[in-house]
Amino acid sequence: MTKENLKICCIGAGYVGGPTCAVIAYKCPTVTVTIVDLNEDRIAAWNSDNLPIYEPGLDDVVFACRGRNLFFSSEVDQAIQEADLIFVSVNTPTKKSGIGAGFAADLAYVESATRRIAQVATSSKIVIEKSTVPCRTAESMRAILEANSRDGIRFDILSNPEFLAEGTAIPDLMYPDRVLIGSLQTPEGIKAQNVLADVYANWVPKEKIITMGLWSSELSKLAANALLAQRISSINALSAICEATGADVDEVAYACGLDSRIGPKFLKASVGFGGSCFQKDILNLVYLSESLHLPEVAEYWKQVVTMNEYQKSRFLERIVKRLFNTLTNKNLAVFGFAFKKNTGDTRESAAITLVKHFIQEKANIHIYDPKVEDAQIEMDLCEPGIATPEQYKKSVTIFHDPYEAAKNADAIVVLTEWDEFKTLDYQRVYNNMHKPAFIFDGRLFLDTKKLQNIGFQVEVIGRQV
Ligand code: UDX
Ligand code: UDX
Ligand code: ADP
Repeated sequence: MTKENLKICCIGAGYVGGPTCAVIAYKCPTVTVTIVDLNEDRIAAWNSDNLPIYEPGLDDVVFACRGRNLFFSSEVDQAIQEADLIFVSVNTPTKKSGIGAGFAADLAYVESATRRIAQVATSSKIVIEKSTVPCRTAESMRAILEANSRDGIRFDILSNPEFLAEGTAIPDLMYPDRVLIGSLQTPEGIKAQNVLADVYANWVPKEKIITMGLWSSELSKLAANALLAQRISSINALSAICEATGADVDEVAYACGLDSRIGPKFLKASVGFGGSCFQKDILNLVYLSESLHLPEVAEYWKQVVTMNEYQKSRFLERIVKRLFNTLTNKNLAVFGFAFKKNTGDTRESAAITLVKHFIQEKANIHIYDPKVEDAQIEMDLCEPGIATPEQYKKSVTIFHDPYEAAKNADAIVVLTEWDEFKTLDYQRVYNNMHKPAFIFDGRLFLDTKKLQNIGFQVEVIGRQV
């Protein structure tokens, strides 16, 4: 394989694999990139005008190189056979049952993708683990590849964790803080590392491409997410103290963030962090710590998740209390269902937990989100342990217009910081609501004074109003 005619295959056309490999194709016109997935509907969507994930800037990247050097296909085997480099970018959800249930990552998809590579490959490959995986997964992948491959075929395994955040995936990929490539520190491992580093060198400055051992690279991904989530849980813990004392959490975060050792980012209090990574990766770290017989370490990290759950239940209690201690038959407009703005992704969204409790409190829930699909909301809320389909039908209505969602509502609960919520005509919203009209700002981003002047009863996380 020469640098010019390199062929890359990406197994898994999801939030990680799709944008990442689309940007590689965009930045490396001489490299052929094929993104494959077992899910044919998803591939059809990637090949259509309506891409299956919403990500600002993604359309431009995909439309610029699709059909040129970027292809989406469900012919997994063929793409594996043709590729020099294979990214494994499949889902690794938290296990729901069995050993490690609720904590360990389910590696079934990684394993089956790895077995497929071993079975069908007819030439040597560099296999890159891209999905977030527990430490030492590469070792399992190597065992599977070596035990199942044909004679004379060599597999080198790299860890190349993804640090993109949803909603900013394209700028994160175009201008990364760093690209991390882990490999075994053998001559072959280092050679493979260099092949991948050369791909990134097409647009990433050399000093930002960091190489290290496999295990450090795998652990760094979990560690970075744990440290980020810990900051949010720390500021959320402080938000509880602010509400009790009269301090303002935004002011406290501002004051602390000015210390250059702390810095201003990721100190925004909220109703709780969501997303496919933070909780999963911390639980993974907890599971790892326990299996290494480090119970104090496990407990330390577990507390980050506990605090996140506490933040959600604290917000719920505040809502119930302000609504005269009952939600029964009250109309609640939920603004935002995604786990943060600029994404249609709802995995681990705080909205799921809040709406679950609203259903249990027998409220009528009117949900509006500009990007989340109706079917996704229904699927999330009809999961076992959230609500039954009957409860869902009885309690939840989805709206496609925020004014309609808020009509006749007793309260608005803002759970995602979509920009459009800042510029709604709140006078119009207020006029059509039951009185007293409440608004609960779970993202501390609305203009409290303006809302109060209209007549709203306003409640904000981290501040007494
Ligand atoms: C995260 C990491 O940022 C990324 O580097 C990693 O690769 C994957 O996990 P993501 O989950 O897409 O990315 O979103 P992120 O922007 O980190 O937000 C996670 C959650 O934390 C969201 O629910 C967000 O609303 C919340 N958050 C974030 C806060 O509540 N306050 C903050 O200050 C920042
Ligand atoms: C600290 C604050 O830095 C200062 O702003 C505040 O006003 C008083 O408390 P100090 O206790 O003098 O200052 O020292 P500092 O440099 O912050 O270190 C505190 C402890 O943390 C030391 O034991 C230090 O060794 C340890 N530390 C610091 C680490 O273990 N790792 C680090 O990365 C940084
Ligand atoms: P992430 O956020 O990690 O990208 P997603 O769930 O969005 O996760 O995407 C993972 C994708 O991987 C899914 O579309 C799924 O269908 C696909 N996938 C899982 N296992 C395989 C496999 N063995 N071969 C091909 N695609 C797979």
